[in-house]
Amino acid sequence: MDLMTLLETRRTYRRFDQYKEIPSEIIDEMLTAQRFASSACNQQKLRYLVVKSPELVEKIFPLTKWAALLPTEIGTPKDGEHPTLFILVLYDRRKKTKWIDTDAGLAISNMTLAAWNRGVGSCIMDNIDRKGLRKLLNIDEMTEIHSAVAFGYPLHQSNVVLPKSTDNLNYYLDCSNNYCVPKLSVEDVIQIL
Ligand SMILES: Cc1cc2nc3c(=O)[nH]c(=O)nc-3n(C[C@H](O)[C@H](O)[C@H](O)COP(=O)(O)O)c2cc1C
Repeated sequence: MDLMTLLETRRTYRRFDQYKEIPSEIIDEMLTAQRFASSACNQQKLRYLVVKSPELVEKIFPLTKWAALLPTEIGTPKDGEHPTLFILVLYDRRKKTKWIDTDAGLAISNMTLAAWNRGVGSCIMDNIDRKGLRKLLNIDEMTEIHSAVAFGYPLHQSNVVLPKSTDNLNYYLDCSNNYCVPKLSVEDVIQIL
């Protein structure tokens, strides 16, 4: 895939083939991709918990909330559609920098792009039960859970579309149950001086 196609098609995916494992060399590539991300003052304060054991992934799943803009029965992956891998993005509270969110965004972007380059879809997740995750995964109180990213082989497409109106940017499913994600046009968001 050329870069622009990779960027356009690396969307959020929310239904996966739960029985297709992600090979470890692809996971390694995703983790190497985060290593190449920029980080303010090159501080590299983020750490990653890679959960690939199917039993643990299944225990994490109920602690994640999907597609806030859709009814639960439509937006939440059903049995057989769950992700096969979670990566939790962590940092030590005592070492937090004011740029941690930017650093996390860049690292997550690199990981999800590297995954998609190999056909692995992802969903970046902030709507997660941090208390439940902390307990389940024995994460100590000094470690903050920034976010989680779910990965798996997608069972649907997700297409960028032009919004019908700039007032409604809600994503929706088309008649084939594929996601449509309205993105503002370049003209809508830029000013050239
Ligand atoms: C910081 C962040 C947090 C998100 N949290 C969730 C989440 O908890 N659950 C979910 O289903 N999607 C979540 N998403 C996915 C967004 O809903 C998605 O990015 C948005 O609808 C646009 O779709 P796109 O990623 O295909 O462009 C999150 C995305 C970002 C960037």
